[in-house]
Amino acid sequence: MALALTSSISLTGLIGNLIGVEVDISDGLPGYILLGLPDAALNESKERVRAALVNSGESWPNKKVTVSLSPAWLPKSGSAFDLPIAITLLMAQGQIPKDEPGRCIYLGELSLDGQVREVRGVLPAVLAAKKNGFTKAVVPFKNFAEAKCVSGIEVIAIQSLRDALNYLRHGEVPDPPELYLATDSDYFLDLCDVAGQVGARRALEIAAIGGHHLLLIGPPGTGKTMLAERIPSILPPLSDESILEVTAIHSIAGTLLDRELLSKLPPFVSPHHTTTAPAMIGGGVHAIRPGATSLAHQGVLFIDEAPECARGVLDSLRQPLESGSVTISRSVGSVTYPARFMLVLAANPCPCGRFSGRGRSCTCTQVAIRRYLQRLSGPLLDRIDIRVFVDSPSRIEMASDELGESSTTVRNRVISARATADERFKDCDWKLNSQIPPSQLRKRFRAEKSGMNFLHTELDSERLSARGFHKVLRISWSIADSNGNTIPSRGDVETAFRLREGMELLS
Ligand SMILES: Nc1ncnc2c1ncn2[C@@H]1O[C@H](COP(=O)(O)OP(=O)(O)OP(=O)(O)O)[C@@H](O)[C@H]1O
Ligand SMILES: [Mg+2]
Ligand SMILES: [Zn+2]
Repeated sequence: MALALTSSISLTGLIGNLIGVEVDISDGLPGYILLGLPDAALNESKERVRAALVNSGESWPNKKVTVSLSPAWLPKSGSAFDLPIAITLLMAQGQIPKDEPGRCIYLGELSLDGQVREVRGVLPAVLAAKKNGFTKAVVPFKNFAEAKCVSGIEVIAIQSLRDALNYLRHGEVPDPPELYLATDSDYFLDLCDVAGQVGARRALEIAAIGGHHLLLIGPPGTGKTMLAERIPSILPPLSDESILEVTAIHSIAGTLLDRELLSKLPPFVSPHHTTTAPAMIGGGVHAIRPGATSLAHQGVLFIDEAPECARGVLDSLRQPLESGSVTISRSVGSVTYPARFMLVLAANPCPCGRFSGRGRSCTCTQVAIRRYLQRLSGPLLDRIDIRVFVDSPSRIEMASDELGESSTTVRNRVISARATADERFKDCDWKLNSQIPPSQLRKRFRAEKSGMNFLHTELDSERLSARGFHKVLRISWSIADSNGNTIPSRGDVETAFRLREGMELLS
């Protein structure tokens, strides 16, 4: 009986499932059967494995080959099983020593000439291997760096099937590529580039403290995009746990090249306004890939020119905004990716863009202005906490050679304000002011009495909705943290109210 077994990993979302790769070679009509719900790419593995083996100087058995990927009920996709299949086949033929079970996982796509190509999702796969007690991972050379992010497991980077065989036969470990890991000072955009915009800067800081969603609205060329792009530079660095999670999502999406490996910088993702709903929340036919909302997990999702977005695309943001995750269902199964991000929208106030409330050169009619912003309105706009009007900086501000505050200064303030919030929420299951549940806002997290009175008056006069009431309270906690108040004062609440209602046009 010629039988061998190795291990690999298949991913469902971020979750890695241990896969047994079993090969049986028996007498009978020569042929190749692949069992275990393979998708199209996986089904084609036979031809790749055969050519790679032959072109690496190994033999292809002229017998009946049965490959079984277990558990059998789990749909499997992609090309990462090429390498384990090829290796198990050689083990079954007795060409290389058999594996000690539970020790090593193999991942990699084979090219016809026997080179090993990179695959997606290596980081979460290696993470899962480690959790399952494995001590070694054989991965493609180009995936070495991300696999190396997982500590406590030996990673062997191979460029070709030959490399893998030399390692398994003679214990020759090929030279790994040089590692380049991110340093802290990587982000090149700094808030000090933005002239003036005192109000908007303050709003950005408050939003960063509490993780509040933000709408920047104003005429073209006033610095909305500039401001939004600088938000990651004032957010606290990611925790070690978050770094792995964010890197894992980007590993599955195949966008690791856009990000420094193990960067502490929160991601910044800005899909174009012509983007589609699947690109926004994730999708795909065979493998379900994360979309922009998941790529922005733990960071910023920025949608420039938001009113130009198709309605369905903006509406698709509602589920992640509510639950912090997206679940995508396809015939191959359903997958959940984390998606907790700070949403930042930018918009011109009207179709011509020049409306500023001071009636300068805007040529749009009142109706056109209303209709333009109504494209944003409804459920999405309700979820935006802070609205800021970004007007042109004045001549004096632009001419001044004095730079504004740097990102580092602002970020240090954000970090210390968040530390206050962390202390307050240490026995709660949320971390940010924007996440305080409504029931807790009424019970434990009220503002100072006069502040509450102010809010009740605004409620009575219908200048504030019930949802707005909660939002203003949450923002006032962020302002209190920023001002060093242990409880939001009346002044904090009033500032929060102005930030929330910032744009009367929309109410
Ligand atoms: N406050 C500012 N300080 C310094 N430069 C600015 C400022 N506002 C705008 N600029 C300059 O104008 C350019 C355009 O700014 P930005 O792209 O941020 O504008 P915008 O508000 O996003 O415009 P649009 O509505 O057309 O997208 C910037 O690259 C910068 O050179
Ligand atoms: Mg812009
Ligand atoms: Zn106009």
